[in-house]
Amino acid sequence: MELNLDQAYSEARRELETAAGDPQKIQALQVHYLGRKGVLTQFLRSIAGLPPEQRPAAGQKANAIKQQLSADFDAAIEALEGDGLATQDRIDVSLPGRTEATGALHPISRISAEICAIFSKMGFDIVEGPEVEKDYYNFEALNIPKNHPARDMQDTFFVSPDVVLRTHTSPLQVRTMERQAPPVRVIAPGKVFRCDSDQTHTPMFHQVEGLLVDENVSFGDLKGTLTAFVHQMFDEQTRLRFRPSFFPFTEPSAEVDILCVICRGRGCRVCKHTGWLEILGSGMVHPAVFENVGYDTGRYTGFAFGMGVERVAMLKYGIDDLRKFFENDLRFLSQF
Ligand code: FA5
Ligand code: MG
Repeated sequence: MELNLDQAYSEARRELETAAGDPQKIQALQVHYLGRKGVLTQFLRSIAGLPPEQRPAAGQKANAIKQQLSADFDAAIEALEGDGLATQDRIDVSLPGRTEATGALHPISRISAEICAIFSKMGFDIVEGPEVEKDYYNFEALNIPKNHPARDMQDTFFVSPDVVLRTHTSPLQVRTMERQAPPVRVIAPGKVFRCDSDQTHTPMFHQVEGLLVDENVSFGDLKGTLTAFVHQMFDEQTRLRFRPSFFPFTEPSAEVDILCVICRGRGCRVCKHTGWLEILGSGMVHPAVFENVGYDTGRYTGFAFGMGVERVAMLKYGIDDLRKFFENDLRFLSQF
């Protein structure tokens, strides 16, 4: 009996030493020796079966050892906590670091910046103007008088009878020419607003306006500039076509379509089964606009264009619904 107790004690000590630093092992040992069904507890119970004269001595011995062992366990656990390096919070230096989720530019901002970069390289300056605009700049000065049927081309949000949310970036043509004499070579990116919503139209969208005025500017310059732009924005193989159109502030006018990238021209929902998608309106600046800003119409000619940024983004990324850009679904946005 006595021998067994001493043996059990030294065994417990040995095991405790090998378990040093491992809280789980120490805990398991504690249960094994001192738990309700532990080795020491069993000993104490078995004392009842000893002859009466042996009981007091055996009881004393067993209790002393139990106390000693409890103290040993307490010390081991304390050492563990003092370390501050218990297994649970030990640092595993081989684990990969935690990466911070970084924000990114919205695809529309990126495409807008890309469009500006291409025209900057061609020597265009970037200008900006107000989103809440005077009727005069949005319509009147662009040869669209009040009650003119051409106002119906764009569904306008009115702030007051004389103030609108700009329906296009073309007011920047007038604002720029009022400020400076020719030659002019500017682009103007920004938000525009129209009461319009379907798969290829949203009530707020982005345009980039372009304006070039100088002596001897021809429609050929317009075609060359826009063709060079499309080839840089997409690739040399991208097909585009100039389609006759009408704008009150340009004459002649043309809209530019590019071959639908979704269906490669076969026809789909996005291109309304035409195989082509309109990306911009353009034309030679109308003499009436020059007169409104005091430019000499005998000496100067110019071209202008207004491009839909979302349309360019749709084609560039092969997206079939323009509204996705504004739903702020991170699963969609984080693809770019
Ligand atoms: C205009 O806004 C003219 N200011 C363009 C212009 C500028 C012509 C300079 C001549 C000289 P339009 O309404 O067609 O034109 O719009 C131009 C482009 O904006 C369209 O080709 C299209 O790409 C895009 N766009 C028009 N409406 C929407 C809309 N609701 N949602 C998204 N993109 C649109
Ligand atoms: Mg149009």
